[in-house]
Amino acid sequence: MPKKIGYDVTDPALADAGRLKIEWAGRSMPVLKLIEARFSEEKPLKSIVIGACLHVTAETANLVLALTAGGAQIALCASNPLSTQDDVVASLVTHYKIPVYARKGEDRKTYYSHLNAVLDTHPGITMDDGADLVTLLHTTRRSQIREIIGSSEETTTGVIRLKAMAREKALRIPVFAVNDSDTKHLFDNRYGTGQSTLDGIMRATNMLLAGKKFVVAGYGWCGRGLAARARGMGSHVIVTEVDPVKALEAVMDGFTVMRMKDAVRTGDIFVTVTGNKDVITVEHIRRMKDGAVIANSGHFNVEIAVEELARIARKTRRIRDAVTEYLMPGGKRIYVLGEGRLINLAAAEGHAPDVMDMSFANQALAAEFFVKNQGRLPVRVITISPRMDRQIARLKLAAMGVRTDRLTRAQHKYLTSWQEGT
Ligand code: ADE
Repeated sequence: MPKKIGYDVTDPALADAGRLKIEWAGRSMPVLKLIEARFSEEKPLKSIVIGACLHVTAETANLVLALTAGGAQIALCASNPLSTQDDVVASLVTHYKIPVYARKGEDRKTYYSHLNAVLDTHPGITMDDGADLVTLLHTTRRSQIREIIGSSEETTTGVIRLKAMAREKALRIPVFAVNDSDTKHLFDNRYGTGQSTLDGIMRATNMLLAGKKFVVAGYGWCGRGLAARARGMGSHVIVTEVDPVKALEAVMDGFTVMRMKDAVRTGDIFVTVTGNKDVITVEHIRRMKDGAVIANSGHFNVEIAVEELARIARKTRRIRDAVTEYLMPGGKRIYVLGEGRLINLAAAEGHAPDVMDMSFANQALAAEFFVKNQGRLPVRVITISPRMDRQIARLKLAAMGVRTDRLTRAQHKYLTSWQEGT
């Protein structure tokens, strides 16, 4: 290695497999590749230190390569203890000399030591998926706040945390809500989560989804995507939702909507995607059918009462890699997938690169935006301009070979005037 870098990797011998995986994912990320090509020429991130806390996947590796092409020095850690792809870490460290601190299955102490190792590099820009780096910066590492140009946030849960910080006037740095871009949540959250969650459940269990009663908790973009895909697999989909508008939408989308306390009596498979805690409690689980399967695809492992379940269970055993069986006091057996953590990343590979392409195009452009506007940015949660959002969509359509109509001059005028009526 030409340069000595810090890292924590499970098995360097996986590097070659990781490199192929990164290359394969990159083939489905054309928008990010266009940005990478421009970054290579223009070097907009020259000498910028970026600290990233993201799921360490082949798709994230491609983002890292684009940022590096732009001149950034980047250190990376995992945003979830179970989402890391160890072969990708090995390749990033061995072939690309990127300091990566991530091991699949790391414990909480290691997880935080990795976040701290990334902050030890003194980043000017941070990238989060869940707001853990920003939270550290605002709690135990406050002295580094003045070094931060800006921070970008990938996911709904992280944006919710950041908006709460801003409301309480605790936020001290400009943050870019990547999740709020249309080219992010309409695709990554909906089609990405929809497909990768089913992928995780199928890889974990090898169950047939056709004919099953599939309960989706939460009808945000992730829930909408998941419900649609589960229906496509032949499941009878039941939705639980607290927001009346979203619940009504689910009804009119043709799903059965009910309370969780009613759904638990009939469901075969339960998946939480609410972003909130205590969605499936032990009381709910006690009422479930023998053999019920429970998984979570929300950001944090707070949606299902896994710890309490372990406390009341008569016996617990790992029956497959990502499946834990709980023998309940009355004799029923309940199965929890991926320890209640993001099942799409814990048991599968996360979202397909085709959608991460747009999410990470947003991340790359956010980094460039921070550098271009350094010192002029408001300390609040900011979002992408509609012009930039549409530009990303246009590039994606072009890469997919899809051509679309443009407004004529007369149509544009009609849409921006009021005189023409009945
Ligand atoms: N979040 C969901 N899927 C992901 C992926 N494949 N890579 C990075 N972050 C993700």
